[in-house]
Amino acid sequence: MGAYLIKGGARLLGEVDVAGSKNAALAIMSAVVLAEGTTILHNVPNVSDTKTKAKLLEVFGAKVQWVEGSLIIDCTHLHDGEADEEMVRSIRTSFYLLGPLVSRIGFVTLPAPGGCKIGARPVDLHVKGLRALGADLDLSDGRYTVRANQLVGTEIYLDVPSAGATQHLMATATLAKGITVIQNAAVEPEVTALADFLNRMGAKVEGAGTSTISIQGVSRLEACGYTIPTDRLQAGTYLLAGAITGGDVTVRGIIPENQAAVINKLREIGADVAEGPDWLRVKSDGGLKGVRIKTMPYPGFPTDMQQPMAALLTVCEGMSVVEETIYESRIGHVQELNRMGASILQEGRTTIITGSSKLKGASVTASDLRAGAALVLAGLVAEGETVVKNIHFIDRGYDNLEGTLVSLGGDIKRISSQEKRTKVGDTVH
Ligand code: EPZ
Repeated sequence: MGAYLIKGGARLLGEVDVAGSKNAALAIMSAVVLAEGTTILHNVPNVSDTKTKAKLLEVFGAKVQWVEGSLIIDCTHLHDGEADEEMVRSIRTSFYLLGPLVSRIGFVTLPAPGGCKIGARPVDLHVKGLRALGADLDLSDGRYTVRANQLVGTEIYLDVPSAGATQHLMATATLAKGITVIQNAAVEPEVTALADFLNRMGAKVEGAGTSTISIQGVSRLEACGYTIPTDRLQAGTYLLAGAITGGDVTVRGIIPENQAAVINKLREIGADVAEGPDWLRVKSDGGLKGVRIKTMPYPGFPTDMQQPMAALLTVCEGMSVVEETIYESRIGHVQELNRMGASILQEGRTTIITGSSKLKGASVTASDLRAGAALVLAGLVAEGETVVKNIHFIDRGYDNLEGTLVSLGGDIKRISSQEKRTKVGDTVH
């Protein structure tokens, strides 16, 4: 397992571009199976989750080729397949393949997705929606078996505006007979990106980006080309890196309104945020103060930025309160940040942070993707050296994190986790 060795103290300065959105790419890579022929996806992020998803598509007969950041996927000949349980459990969006695949080939079996460090991550809304569309789903021995001859459009109400359930059911409904209306749909930008892709294939999706989406089923879809939009979560992480190091960082090629919640909190904290048509610039010369954060479905404060934001709040003057309303245990960063000298109290879904602690380098371990990002941010500002272990979690969702941070002046490099910190007198626990 790899690790990062980070020497803290450098102010990050400069401009960076952002890779394609992992979450948009994964949802779109489930939907490509809806059309015969060859789809070409550009700007696909080079992260382990997209590589795993590509391998999963091949299990069901897709022919996949990577050509410099573009993915060429031929879904002409699809068939059921025996997907490896570990592979399926390693990425939740494997589950979003069920509906599109059964629309194409009528019968699919797939291991049930697992939970993860951040919560149980149920799929009841996905199952309810597929059954409402007329699919016959059975779960036994930890595997779903799904059968369907012709799915039929219907009304689906989502108890929770689940991004995944919205994406899964919206894609599946494109080949159902008649009209499907999804009520209380998620409005995340990744839902809108998927709807754009589906309509590019000839689907008739309306209302994406609002809480009511209607899909007029069609008899077939055409493979097409599509460019994945940039990743708002990687972009947000680089903005926070500028703030936490007292630097001056510009993120280019993004959609600023997708960052509204993060920008508003950065301004409330006291960072200086400038905005252009496709860029954001964050400057900070310290003197930041603590705030209240409450994660909510988009456009609320994104749960995926909760942990990186917590790292920033540990060096903000005064008390901060972070309430995580989406996942029951998105707290893998807390004890590791405390090992670095932060003072964070965890009470259920609420994290209480007493800021302005001077962070000190330590050997810490990433427990999940965004907790890992939080530890990297802390390492950039901590005194001395930090080793962040288990960075395979970070590789799931950040395309070239260390290269981007080095281009901004950060001192971070990838090492094997056996290598130790070099500071004299330090023992790596
Ligand atoms: C997507 O997960 C993202 N993942 C997550 O990002 C993100 O945190 C999440 O949306 C929320 O924005 C991908 O897009 C691959 P949900 P998803 O279904 O779709 C409940 C990252 O770090 N729920 O919106 O799985 C669930 O318990 C990852 O990039 C049900 O109750 O999230 C949770 O409380 C982590 N029943 C809430 O909805 C269901 O059937 C949000 O889950 C489905 C979800």
